[in-house]
Amino acid sequence: MHGASRIKEVVIINSIPPDLLSEPARAFAGRSHGLLIGGASVPAADGRKFTTPDPSTARPIAEVPLSGPEDVDRAVRAAHAALKKSAWATMPPAERGRLIGRLADLVEANADELAELESLDGGKPVKLAKIVDVTGAVGALRYAAGWPTKIIGDVVPQSIPGAFSYTRKEPVGVCGQIIPWNFPLLMAVWKIGPALAAGCTSVLKPAEQTPLTALRLGELALEAGLPEGVLNVLTGDGSTGAAIVDHDGVDKVAFTGSTEVGRGIAGRAGHALKRVTLELGGKSANIIMPDADIAAATKGSFQAIYYNTGQACIAGSRLFVHRDHFDDVVGALAERASTARVGPGLDPKTQLGPVVSAEQYKRVTGYIEQGKAEGAELVAGGGRGGQEGNGWFVEPTLFTATSDDLTMAREEIFGPVLVAQPYEDLGEVTRKANATEYGLAAGVWTRDVATAHKVAHQLEAGAVYVNGWGRMDPAAPFGGVKASGLGREHGREGLEAYLETKTIWIDVA
Ligand code: NAI
Ligand code: MG
Repeated sequence: MHGASRIKEVVIINSIPPDLLSEPARAFAGRSHGLLIGGASVPAADGRKFTTPDPSTARPIAEVPLSGPEDVDRAVRAAHAALKKSAWATMPPAERGRLIGRLADLVEANADELAELESLDGGKPVKLAKIVDVTGAVGALRYAAGWPTKIIGDVVPQSIPGAFSYTRKEPVGVCGQIIPWNFPLLMAVWKIGPALAAGCTSVLKPAEQTPLTALRLGELALEAGLPEGVLNVLTGDGSTGAAIVDHDGVDKVAFTGSTEVGRGIAGRAGHALKRVTLELGGKSANIIMPDADIAAATKGSFQAIYYNTGQACIAGSRLFVHRDHFDDVVGALAERASTARVGPGLDPKTQLGPVVSAEQYKRVTGYIEQGKAEGAELVAGGGRGGQEGNGWFVEPTLFTATSDDLTMAREEIFGPVLVAQPYEDLGEVTRKANATEYGLAAGVWTRDVATAHKVAHQLEAGAVYVNGWGRMDPAAPFGGVKASGLGREHGREGLEAYLETKTIWIDVA
């Protein structure tokens, strides 16, 4: 039944020149794909599949299984068995760390293939995929590999005569980990790294738009020697994600994606009393103070929004510029936007790839049209950047506005669309910056150290960037306040989200 479509897919992949898609990436994408359950590659129980398209052409790349509730059940059982049977949770910590480290080495050894697959499947510039996604994934895994030997409990001072107590940090158990399409491999690693380090096992679900690198990561995990069932990979859509969240055998849910879906997950996980961490949307404010290095601020603000074609939860999508510099900054941003190269992800000259899907294209262009209708002034972009064909291209787009009421200034667009507004004083701009339901990131550009700290303390966000944007390190906590999420990833806090504390009492009287 699927034979004919397979042949068609291989033909599509073969139409991409060999210098853009290397043999290993071509072979993986063109292969028949299974779910990873208990160490085996298997089709969906009911045989359903879906295709993942190339956003640069809108043509299908590959078919992958669509996991249903039966597959979720098998994967959760496999993850439970792995906790016990393979002794993942009780394995000597040094050995668990060594295996995670081997996975890091294998991701690094296959960096080119993974970067090409990421670019092909999600549309991002291949250079970015290599430098940011793959290198970031290697770093996050190496960081996680260091944790198992450093997970320690406490000896608790007792005021009760004859009693002695201590705490043990134990893995939460089986984790359902649901990730989005904007940084597929990186988000997969951000999720599995701390879970595996803590001794948990995982049922990982990549987004339906970008399933390929998670499947490859699953293969590499087996090659690294992770016991079967420790990492299970289920490709599928929102219904698969919902089945994972609702499965009784899932002890903790970790999710990155839209605030709307995250809210629903929080409700269901809350009812089931499951542990949950959420990394959700943002509408981050970026403030240029009158004393800022304007050239650096302009360059950084351009990157803050247009990086990854605006498809970043931390995108600096609201720019506030002091009125003394407003026209200069807007002019310089418009100039940069008009010369940025929009094109296919695999083209090495591309600076902005397409947006990920037909749905996102419709959504982003819809916001652009609505912005014009609501009276925002379009100063750059708004079109397809000269790209022909069916790819989902949107050029870097810049609006100016004086009103805070615009829909595009309030809602997360998740595309290359920036709204710039002038302001007059500090009180006004911090109030405006905080007047959003979101609180993921914020930024301030200033040469004055006191202003930097003052504004950073006043901004309601999980991260504040001073004279830069988007710095990340696996050791530095990452996450949001308000509607941007619950909990933190990275660092000790990110690890703690996968650990339970047990207190043990011993009567020594
Ligand atoms: P989404 O939240 O629907 O999808 C994210 C992940 O959740 C995917 O793996 C999806 O299959 C899964 N999912 C969907 N419904 C689910 C459910 N009911 N239960 C469990 N899992 C479910 O996001 P979508 O539709 O891809 O993008 C819509 C908007 O969400 C974007 O325009 C953007 O504003 C925001 N978004 C934010 C991200 C972030 O990094 N914070 C990442 C992706 C999207
Ligand atoms: Mg795709």
